[in-house]
Amino acid sequence: MKKDVAGFSTRAIHHGYDAGQHQGSLNPPVYLTSTFTFETAEAGGAMFAGEQQGHFYSRISNPTLDQLEERIANLEGAEAGLATASGMGAITSVFWTLVKAGDEVIIDKTLYGCTFAFLSHGLTKFDVKVTPVDLTDPENLTDAITDRTRVVYFETPANPNNRLVDIAAISRIAHAKGAKVVVDNTYATPVLTRPLEHGADIVLHSATKYLGGHGDLVAGLIAGSAEDMTQVRLVGLKDMTGSVMSPFTAMLLLRGLKTLELRVERHCRSAMQIAQMLEDHPSVASVHYPGLDSFPQADLARRQMSDFGGMIPFEVVGGKDGGIAMMNRLKLIQRAVSLGDAESLIQHPASMTHSTYTPQERAEHGIAEGLVRLSVGLETADDLIDDLMAALSQHNAIAAE
Ligand SMILES: Cc1ncc(COP(=O)(O)O)c(C=O)c1O
Repeated sequence: MKKDVAGFSTRAIHHGYDAGQHQGSLNPPVYLTSTFTFETAEAGGAMFAGEQQGHFYSRISNPTLDQLEERIANLEGAEAGLATASGMGAITSVFWTLVKAGDEVIIDKTLYGCTFAFLSHGLTKFDVKVTPVDLTDPENLTDAITDRTRVVYFETPANPNNRLVDIAAISRIAHAKGAKVVVDNTYATPVLTRPLEHGADIVLHSATKYLGGHGDLVAGLIAGSAEDMTQVRLVGLKDMTGSVMSPFTAMLLLRGLKTLELRVERHCRSAMQIAQMLEDHPSVASVHYPGLDSFPQADLARRQMSDFGGMIPFEVVGGKDGGIAMMNRLKLIQRAVSLGDAESLIQHPASMTHSTYTPQERAEHGIAEGLVRLSVGLETADDLIDDLMAALSQHNAIAAE
């Protein structure tokens, strides 16, 4: 079977690597080098001039990163990929490449806190107009987009409340005005949704999360057309951010990707069980999980996602105080930000990941103060359910007092 038409996990394990080219080494060698020697001074000059291919400095390219970039491109169905030092490095490198003063950008109302801070409070200082729009209804984009709009940016599912955006509908409207669609696919991963197949132009990740999968690295990945990736590499990454991934991190990510599909399947299976338990629990006020029939965008979830992910935002009875008290009673689930790790993690967005929004912005953008966000890990689902049930039953007893 040709490796590039093989199934997801086969490609995640093998694509773009031939052990025969590397002395039989089962895993790709890690090129821990900052610079590369030139055969001649003229050859070095030709590489700098773009007249000759080759590696010359690891801020621009490195063979271990090449391997990873090739693999993420394949998994996302893209022509090319690009590795960065963090998810924020990916996001900022893309924006510094695509926009200039006087341009306009449309962003969804629900974004990860630091992404929102960069776009709404940062980029706007450089005379770029950034307009938050509720993209869950594509009609809102039709109303807001102008001839100056260069980028439409969103997450689906969005952090922290799992709101979905219809990638195909948004892409049609954006492309009609000549704007590029950039999607943060951190939550869904290419196992569940491949945004480029739905019409998006660039997909990016906080690879810190599911792609790495073990909570031991910080990284970003981008995929798109060869032309866009060259631009982002040579402008946003090389000159504007310098947000370069270490070859050692690339090795850890190549390792993480091998089990991505397997892990995501388990995250989804356990999350569904937990979401159903939470929905039926009297101490839980609301659960926002795309796999539940009660989820307002359940139809879009079924259309756009092959399963529903490992993230469960929910509110307990008693709002913020109730949520925090419940979090403090958990014994197995760890209180920590980040997501997509083997360990289940829980956090309170309003005081943690989304504290970069002002309280007024959170209210306007539909990020509830009482929301807690559970990242369902790979532990035995029954143990997670027991932990949550114990914390919630005490909650019940206290609420009844
Ligand atoms: C959806 C999403 N995008 C981007 C980021 C930023 O990624 P990083 O922390 O790797 O810089 C995060 C981090 O939590 C995230 O949740």
